[in-house]
Amino acid sequence: MTDAALLELRSVSKSYPGPTPVPVLREASLNVTRSESLAIVGPSGSGKSTLLNLLGTLDTPDSGSVWFEERDLTGLSAKELAVLRNHRIGFVFQNHHLLPQCTVLENVLIPTLAGAGRSPKEAEHRARQLLDRVGLGHRIDHTPGRLSGGERQRTAVVRALINEPALLLADEPTGALDRVSAGEITKLLVELNRTDGLTLIVVTHSAELAGLMGRSVELCDGKLAPLDSKTVRA
Ligand SMILES: Nc1ncnc2c1ncn2[C@@H]1O[C@H](COP(=O)(O)OP(=O)(O)O)[C@@H](O)[C@H]1O
Ligand SMILES: [Mg+2]
Repeated sequence: MTDAALLELRSVSKSYPGPTPVPVLREASLNVTRSESLAIVGPSGSGKSTLLNLLGTLDTPDSGSVWFEERDLTGLSAKELAVLRNHRIGFVFQNHHLLPQCTVLENVLIPTLAGAGRSPKEAEHRARQLLDRVGLGHRIDHTPGRLSGGERQRTAVVRALINEPALLLADEPTGALDRVSAGEITKLLVELNRTDGLTLIVVTHSAELAGLMGRSVELCDGKLAPLDSKTVRA
């Protein structure tokens, strides 16, 4: 890996077992450099979520290897992967996955409970700062049921950022939102990449969001191919 490389997928294959095994990735390769922004596009069922799970260490390949920050993840134990994931990688999904009984602040602090290096006081300070930044300073004591869809997704983004990850993975982050809320999340993700230098990988059907990423790749027949951002298909 070169100095600037953050993440690399080397010839990764993945199938789901069953009476008729489903091959999803076929020797797919990808290089992601620090601070870049990448859109992954492709038809429904083409394996985008499977790919994102592999990039985020939530799943392991059948063959090939995944490298992150100069480490081959193939040989790491489940516990080592969990620590790496908690400290270095943030996730945002199509649905917010917030805990309904917890407040905004409590939800955001959940990833810090496993101990990611900050005292509880420092973690809460960072949470309040981030919530202020995304315009949720006045919502910290609300439960998710009392938030709009856009506010819930902004909370989910803050939760993903609380441990200062090197990489943010987002799986159709605007897919369940109305146009205005989708625009807010798009703006926030772009700002986190351009202003904060956060490496961002987004799976999206939104041509607008994909067009704002530095580059796009298309997942097709289990492989990744570069895509001219001007021709991104919605
Ligand atoms: N846990 C699973 N077990 C079996 N098949 C799965 C599983 N998860 C996904 N698949 C299948 O793998 C293919 C790719 O799924 P997915 O990665 O979710 O695609 P996408 O996110 O592009 O819609 C689909 O055919 C899907 O039905
Ligand atoms: Mg998916």
